[in-house]
Amino acid sequence: MIAFEPILPVVVIDDADAAESLGRALVAGGIRQAEITLRTPAALEALRRMGAVPGLRVGAGTVLDADQAEAAIDAGASFIVSPGLADAVIAVCARRGVSAVPGVVTATEVMRARALGLRTLKFFPAEASGGRAAVAALSTVFPEIRFVPTGGIDAARAGEYLTLPSVVAVGGSWMVPRAALSARDFAAIESLCRQAVQAVEAVEAAP
Ligand code: 3PG
Repeated sequence: MIAFEPILPVVVIDDADAAESLGRALVAGGIRQAEITLRTPAALEALRRMGAVPGLRVGAGTVLDADQAEAAIDAGASFIVSPGLADAVIAVCARRGVSAVPGVVTATEVMRARALGLRTLKFFPAEASGGRAAVAALSTVFPEIRFVPTGGIDAARAGEYLTLPSVVAVGGSWMVPRAALSARDFAAIESLCRQAVQAVEAVEAAP
């Protein structure tokens, strides 16, 4: 399993020509990883281009089936995130030596993922599924599981999740608003990334 940094931007990109500048804005804002969701026709090409940005590790998100997992890994994804758990996606990741991070909400889903040998899981959709309290409750019975809560989280809430030792990263799209990306407002994106990193550093520095 790869070691996640605490903030995982979730990117929905409509134009691959914006990918390189976006990647540079993320890095300039202190971010070193990004999840490119396979929800747009531009996603795989964007993944390829962002993967070439120095200092940035890219993975794919919204990976729903084996073909998408193969294509994302071919495009350079070093981790594969899914909204739920698909055995075929897990199998592709295992065969190709890439980390799989499937989404879970319930204890039963955690147990299924655990039985497949997975230890880092996305908790999705986080805010709609009980939020920080739900992650804390799951962590008491699954102390070996690490969570990446995602869905409905903003900078302020990110810090709250990250006070849980079981939370290795918080995912979200708030650093990369689709409108800012469409408008090529990379300064705004860089600034949002910097604010997110500072919010996390403040939590980590708290006694
Ligand atoms: C995801 O793909 O993981 C979520 O759509 C991200 O959720 P958010 O847009 O609420 O941050």
